Amino acid sequence: MSAAADRPRSPIARTASYEAVPEEVGRVLLLYSGGLDTSVMLRWIQEEYDADVVALTIDLGQPGEDFDVVRGKALDLGALDCRVVDAREQFAYEYVLPAIKANALYGGGYPLFTALGRPLIARLAVEAARETGCDTIAHGCTGKGNDQVRIEATVAALAPELKIVAPVRGWQMGREEEIAYAREHGIPVKGGTEAPPYSIDDNLWGRSSEGGPIEELSEAPRADVFQLVTRPEEAPDEPELVAVGFERGCPVTLDGERLGLVELLERAGELGARHGCGIVDHIEDRIVGLKVRDLYEAPAAAIVLTAHRELEKLVSTIHQNNFKPGLDREWAFLVYGGLWHEPLLDDLNAFMDRANEQVTGTVTMKLYKGSATPVARSSPNALYDPDLAGFGESGGLFSQAASPGFIELWSLQSRMAYGLRHREEGTG
Ligand code: ARG
Repeated sequence: MSAAADRPRSPIARTASYEAVPEEVGRVLLLYSGGLDTSVMLRWIQEEYDADVVALTIDLGQPGEDFDVVRGKALDLGALDCRVVDAREQFAYEYVLPAIKANALYGGGYPLFTALGRPLIARLAVEAARETGCDTIAHGCTGKGNDQVRIEATVAALAPELKIVAPVRGWQMGREEEIAYAREHGIPVKGGTEAPPYSIDDNLWGRSSEGGPIEELSEAPRADVFQLVTRPEEAPDEPELVAVGFERGCPVTLDGERLGLVELLERAGELGARHGCGIVDHIEDRIVGLKVRDLYEAPAAAIVLTAHRELEKLVSTIHQNNFKPGLDREWAFLVYGGLWHEPLLDDLNAFMDRANEQVTGTVTMKLYKGSATPVARSSPNALYDPDLAGFGESGGLFSQAASPGFIELWSLQSRMAYGLRHREEGTG
C-alpha cells in the first residue's frame, strides 16, 4: 500500500457548503499549471477520489511557458483532456483595463496582476467544467494565501452547483513528501529535488516572488529573485523616452504606433524591464490576516499606470482629483480581496468609465535606471492654459486683484475657528 493511501482523506468533513466530500466527486476540472503541486494533484485526485480529471491551463501572458509541454504532461499523468486557453485578450481588456482606469495599486504599491488574473481563471474553469461535465473544480492554492479566496469566491458566485477541492490546503504533505510522491508516481520533477527558493506567479501585468529568503525582512532582496526586470544598477546608462497614448483611459499607442492592448502591454513591459522599472519590495496585508513580504516586478504597470494617472490628473478638476483616489483605493481593495462579482465593484466601474471619458492624450515617460517618470504631456482635454498659469498677464481672464477677496472668503470659517480656539492666549 502506498504512503498516500494511509494518509487521512481530505477534506474529511466540510466547513463551507461548496467543499466537495469524496463521495460527491465524479469528474474534476483541475486548474493545471504544470508545476509540482498541480501535477501531484492530478494523480492524487484520480487515486483519492477515484475520479476523472480534465485539466485546464490558462495563458495570461506568463512569459517563457511552453503550453504544448504542459499539455503533454497532463495527458501523460492521466488527464482525460488538457485544454489550453489563450485568455490574454480577455485578461487585458476585461481585467487589466478596468484596473488602469482605477489606477489600481493595493497598499500603494501592488498593481494586482495576480488578483486580476484569478477571477478570470475561475470563470474559465467554470465554463470548462460545465462543458466537460465536471462536478468539481480543483485548484492548487494553499490555505494561507489570497488566491484561494479569489478563486473560490468567484466559482461559488458563478456556479453554486459546482463543488471545490483544494488538496494542497488539506493534504499533510510537505515539499519532501510531495517530491517522494511524485517519484513514486512517475511525475517528472523539474530541476531535481532542490526546492525552488521562491513561490512565483506571473502574467502580462507583472510577476511576484514570495517565500524563502524573502521572508527575512531584515535582508535586502537577493539578486536571483529578479528574473524579469534588469536590476537598476545594471540598466543602461542612457535614459529612454516612450510616449504612451490614451483614448478614454485605454492605452492605445506607444510612440505613436497603434497597438492592441496585449501587444502594447507586452512591449511596455519589455522596455520597462530593460530599464529596471517596476521593482517593488512590498509589505502586504493579506485578506486572510497575515502580513507578508512580496517582491514584485511590474515593468508594464510602472509605465502605463503612472502615465495614466498623470493624464487623468491633467484633464480632471480639483474636485475630481480629490475624490477619485478614495474610490480607486476601494476598487483595489475589493479586487485584492477577491470580490470581483461584488455589486459595489460594478458601481465603481461605472464611475471609472465615466471619469475616464476625458482621459485622452499622450504622456511621455522617461525610463532610467529603475525609474519611470512623466516628462511631457499633451491632451485636447487638458484643463490647462499656459496663459493663465504663467506669471504674465492673463488677458483679463484671471484678475489677480480679485485674489485678496477670494482669500478673505475662502479662509473665513477657518480663521473664525482658529480665533475661538485661541481666545485665551489672544486676550491674555
Ligand atoms: N501577494 C500577491 C497577491 O496576493 C501575489 C500572490 C502570488 N500568488 C502565488 N500563488 N504565488 O495577489
